[in-house]
Amino acid sequence: MQFGVPELEDLGDVAGKSVLVRADFNVPLRDGVITDDLRIRAALPTLEWLQEHGARVTACTHLGRPKGAPDPAFSVEPVRARLAELAPGVELLDNLRFNPGETANDPAFVAELVAGHDMYVNDAFGASHRAHASIVGPPQTLPSAAGRLLAKEVEVLLGVRDEPKHPFVAITGGSKVSDKLGVIRALLGVADQILIGGGMCFTFFKAMGHQIGNSLCEDEQVDSCKALLEEFGERLVLPDDVVGLGPGGKIGDPSAGGEVRNFGRSLPDGWMGLDIGPGAAAAFSELIGEARTILWNGPMGVFEDPRFEAGTRAVAEAVAESRGFSVIGGGDSAAAIAQFGLADRVDHISTGGGASLELIEQGDLPGLAALRGAPNA
Ligand code: 3PG
Ligand code: MG
Repeated sequence: MQFGVPELEDLGDVAGKSVLVRADFNVPLRDGVITDDLRIRAALPTLEWLQEHGARVTACTHLGRPKGAPDPAFSVEPVRARLAELAPGVELLDNLRFNPGETANDPAFVAELVAGHDMYVNDAFGASHRAHASIVGPPQTLPSAAGRLLAKEVEVLLGVRDEPKHPFVAITGGSKVSDKLGVIRALLGVADQILIGGGMCFTFFKAMGHQIGNSLCEDEQVDSCKALLEEFGERLVLPDDVVGLGPGGKIGDPSAGGEVRNFGRSLPDGWMGLDIGPGAAAAFSELIGEARTILWNGPMGVFEDPRFEAGTRAVAEAVAESRGFSVIGGGDSAAAIAQFGLADRVDHISTGGGASLELIEQGDLPGLAALRGAPNA
């Protein structure tokens, strides 16, 4: 038991028991083909432990965001096929979100889910910030446990949040500052510095009084950014330079033309900032190199477009080279580090985007609280 949450050993004898495992097999798909099966492989230690101890295992997951009714576009069939290869003998239920009771946390759907099962395991770290039926319902009645993946994610992320080695450098990026303000505030309680890149830095630039041209900006967050800058000053590190795309240019399509040029913190009208500049990439890399704890969430630019990948690549390389403890939270930065072939040089890559942010922000998740209330806890 860690953080008051029961683990697999706390289930007692599982031999001959039917165990329902909530996993997060919400994997990226292109034309019905899984492009990254990390989330399936990450659940294997739990599935294998249960099978080795004689349990019959039924897994369940959501996939995408269907609207509470069956929809072939969100079929779990590709997942079922991959799971059959990796964990033969594990059953997989239909997409949980084909039933409106899942997101509504309807007790009738919970009853349907637990029927016929003796025990429940939550290994769906990436979905444990959702108070959905399959996450919070079963532990109300069934002996329950956190799976190995969930337990590991919580141990690593709460460790970084609550007992980091210093200097602790957090790096945040991505397009939406509104998604990150809560976590930035929480991290400012423990991190020595927060490096800010990605589309979200332009809302900060606007708060500082710079011209941001046609760059992304959340106007309703400008005041919050201003307040953070006033309160925390130098501990928030913003890029000194950015890379912009000129009039006529198109993201992801170099053939459309449009000039690419480096700027300081101000961009003229018609120009859009899409990456941190070389000066910022070097400065960020130096700070990352000195850190003993690193937490990275969110790319520095539109790295899917080779013209705007340099900043994200530089940060990924600095994180990979660091001798500090390095953690990557979430979807896009995990995809970036994989794209650059550096994934195996990071200490921990979280399988949850929103979940890792919420865990760091709140110190807890609905899925963990539910497990603490299980009959065997
Ligand atoms: C994710 O991919 O972030 C998780 O699987 C949760 O999915 P959701 O954001 O649709 O709830
Ligand atoms: Mg999400």
